[in-house]
Amino acid sequence: MTENWLVNLPMEVSVLPDWSHFFLTWLRKPLDVAALAPSGPWVAAAVAKNTQLDRDGYVLELGGGTGSITEGLLKGGCPVERLIVIEREPKFVEILRRRFPGLTVIQGDATELGKLMAERSITKLASVVSTLPIKWFPVAAQRSIVDQSFRLMGPGGHFVQITNHMVSPLPRKDLDLAGEEMARIWLSVLPVQVWSYRPLAEIQDNDAFGGMPADAVAAG
Ligand SMILES: C[S@@+](CC[C@H](N)C(=O)[O-])C[C@H]1O[C@@H](n2cnc3c(N)ncnc32)[C@H](O)[C@@H]1O
Repeated sequence: MTENWLVNLPMEVSVLPDWSHFFLTWLRKPLDVAALAPSGPWVAAAVAKNTQLDRDGYVLELGGGTGSITEGLLKGGCPVERLIVIEREPKFVEILRRRFPGLTVIQGDATELGKLMAERSITKLASVVSTLPIKWFPVAAQRSIVDQSFRLMGPGGHFVQITNHMVSPLPRKDLDLAGEEMARIWLSVLPVQVWSYRPLAEIQDNDAFGGMPADAVAAG
């Protein structure tokens, strides 16, 4: 049988550049990583632009990978001590800790974000930014992630999610969300869209999305 040397390369090989660890992890766990290369700088800048840094609290990034979006958030003006990253893959956690001294990197599952924040006595988030392959998560896990995020952000908080599926990565009707595409980045391996969501109940209560059009609450 032909041996696949790339997939069998030990992850401890530290001379490899960070992007190659990303690619190797994708080969091993394609559904978890869901991208063969890290996000590019234009995507990171677009995410940072749509992150609410002007609210009180920490900024939480879900699925840090090797740190492309993390770097964009820091360049976009988020102080390192205000940023928290949850990442499940141990190798990515190691890379994030090495790349960004002072950053809080939690090795854990984003579906448990409420518990992970409570363990660190974090009660207030300004913004939540996700590059998780959330479109492929069961609806119950999607609901759990957005509900925990909105609870910690409080009224007015936005859940920002990137995708390359050209449609809403979260089922807005099932999850009682309003959401719209805020940016589309063509300069990427695949075109990427930045989506922003809020609880539908908030929009109905005070219509405060800042001009979100009526189709923002459309099915799907
Ligand atoms: C598409 S990659 C994005 C990585 C990086 N943020 C970027 O944009 O280049 C998705 C990341 O989410 C992580 N991930 C997937 N499921 C997760 C979960 N349930 N909890 C925490 N991290 C998860 C993967 O390990 C991977 O690093």
